[in-house]
Amino acid sequence: MASRKKPVYEAVEIADIEYRGHGIARPEGKVLFVEDALPGEVVDARVTKKKKDFAFARVLEYRRLSDKRVEPFCEHFGLCGGCRWQYLSYEDQLSYKQYFVGQVLERIGKFRDLEVPDILGCESDRFYRNKLDFSFAAGRWLTDEEIASGEDVGDRRALGFHVRGRFDRVLDIETCYLQPEPSNEIRRAVRDFTLAEAYSYYDPVNHEGYLRSFIIRTSLAGEVLVIVVFAHEDAGARERLLEFIAERFPQITSLDYIINDSMNDSIAPHDVHHYRGRGYINEVCGPNTLKIHPKSFYQTNPKQAERLYEVVARFAALEGTETVYDLFCGIGSIALYLAGSAARVIGIDNVEEAIENARENTAYNGYENCEFLTGNVRDVLTPEFSSTHPAPDLVVLDPPRAGLHPDVVETLLALRPPHIVYVSCNPATQARDLQMLAGAYRIDAVQPVDMFPQTFHIENVADLRQIPR
Ligand SMILES: C[S@@+](CC[C@H](N)C(=O)[O-])C[C@H]1O[C@@H](n2cnc3c(N)ncnc32)[C@H](O)[C@@H]1O
Repeated sequence: MASRKKPVYEAVEIADIEYRGHGIARPEGKVLFVEDALPGEVVDARVTKKKKDFAFARVLEYRRLSDKRVEPFCEHFGLCGGCRWQYLSYEDQLSYKQYFVGQVLERIGKFRDLEVPDILGCESDRFYRNKLDFSFAAGRWLTDEEIASGEDVGDRRALGFHVRGRFDRVLDIETCYLQPEPSNEIRRAVRDFTLAEAYSYYDPVNHEGYLRSFIIRTSLAGEVLVIVVFAHEDAGARERLLEFIAERFPQITSLDYIINDSMNDSIAPHDVHHYRGRGYINEVCGPNTLKIHPKSFYQTNPKQAERLYEVVARFAALEGTETVYDLFCGIGSIALYLAGSAARVIGIDNVEEAIENARENTAYNGYENCEFLTGNVRDVLTPEFSSTHPAPDLVVLDPPRAGLHPDVVETLLALRPPHIVYVSCNPATQARDLQMLAGAYRIDAVQPVDMFPQTFHIENVADLRQIPR
């Protein structure tokens, strides 16, 4: 071990790997979670964050490499914040993800002997995303070689993704393997046009510059929505850029823009202005066509969203007579997926726009048995809720990464629906919640689904049946 402040452990062997993708080592009886390290590897690692019983660390040098390591396929790997797991083949990513689900269910949920079936992988581990948000930046990230050369690097404007861990530096992206075309074509054309036409790019430190960010949404139906975010209004410059995009890419279904003159990058509080086209795109989701507006939340891997919802429907095993609650329903995609097989579906989400979108999609697809309510699930779903609404035969849960609030677990235990299907994007919090429900529910099955190749993220669905009292 070297310095006291940031200890370095030399030649530690990685014994295991955990669900956030860290290798686990146990030097000198301590638990070290090491970023980007695989079982069997031997590394020198520097501690980055120390806790009472464990520490996080980053590799300084690999002394022995796993034979599972492969060459990352993207030239931007390492600096770019996305696609962190490219150093493993997709098959190995899938088998580790499946292992993680069993690991957290056992360690956190204390469920032993639970069979975890093969994770449902993607048909393609590239070009699977339907939404990307690119940043313009006045100060492109410089490579070590550029800095070492001492030469003037000239124009430093960049359009791409933030460098891992840096809000103020952006990596200029040439080809991104996440979204199908015309995503790369549109981004490159916008970059070339705005560089040539001397548009200024945003500088978050001094809050200066005109172009802020650029969102491209695509859909399985082959439609494209583009939103350009400007830092202030300049009607002439805005019109020239939007006109260029519209003429060059007539296949764009909806071209929109936002003026965000605040210090904060979030577009949520700002109005969307419609420039050309339809104002929304259609997405295909099983039997339904969903209208997706510029700011609508929708699952970012639409093909796997359909597979995920197929699993939900398989576990739900509806016969047509049931009342279903879809809690944390977003734009109602699960509710509408199940609506044709249930008597009635009630969806709850705390985002008003999402609920409006859910109602719009209900009418768009001709359903008359769906009701959507805005509010915090914790406040709306009280034990009294079922005195004003039909009691649920099935509750579908799809909470954010933090999982369920303990009050929601308590209400579920009071409501005691006979059947719960729990969809989770964080198997660790899911395992914790399943443990809290374990006295009243048994887990009949789980099914992991991979929505995000090249990342550590996992989606897992659990099928719970009430244990008779
Ligand atoms: C993982 S998303 C699931 C969305 C949807 N089921 C889908 O498949 O697209 C979680 C949703 O929970 C909503 N949400 C987060 N916290 C909430 C809360 N306390 N009460 C109600 N909804 C909440 C978010 O707005 C988001 O739409």
